[in-house]
Amino acid sequence: MQADFPKPLVLIGFMGCGKSSVGRKLAAALDRKFLDCDTVLEAQFGQAISALFAAGREAEFRQAEADLVQSLCKSATNIVIATGGGVCMAAASANAIREHSLCIWLDAPWPVLQARLGKDPSRPLLAGNPEQLYRQRQAVYAACASVRVKADQAVELVLDEIIARIKSI
Ligand code: S3P
Repeated sequence: MQADFPKPLVLIGFMGCGKSSVGRKLAAALDRKFLDCDTVLEAQFGQAISALFAAGREAEFRQAEADLVQSLCKSATNIVIATGGGVCMAAASANAIREHSLCIWLDAPWPVLQARLGKDPSRPLLAGNPEQLYRQRQAVYAACASVRVKADQAVELVLDEIIARIKSI
């Protein structure tokens, strides 16, 4: 990646793959801004995501998430964006990510994610059938990303792998 490559770096992947922790470190390493979509949306709604879902407001959350990601992809520069795990399920968001960013998929096997996630109450979708969701989404992440990195390793190693992979872009 050229030093003057301005496009956003967008991290995608299933819950627990490390988008936020890796993203923060990646931004620091590349001297970019960092933005975590879930954090921005919780501030925007003034409520935790778990509370929004519990109140039956997932559709509103999804619309705001799609608006945020699409607008960031089209206009933000020199930024690393950690997305929520469901963002690519909206076709318009997947298209915007593909077209306007360098998209990096943090991919880890289900048992690794399951062990990391446990029964985290802040992630409402874990209450359903998260393994099925994981399996449905793998192909969507694959279609969206231009770089796939193994995320079942320590954050520092994931970071090194991303930096090595994007150097050549
Ligand atoms: C979701 C993932 C969450 C959050 C929301 C929905 C999903 O983000 O956006 O609970 O659909 O996979 P993380 O991937 O950061 O946990």
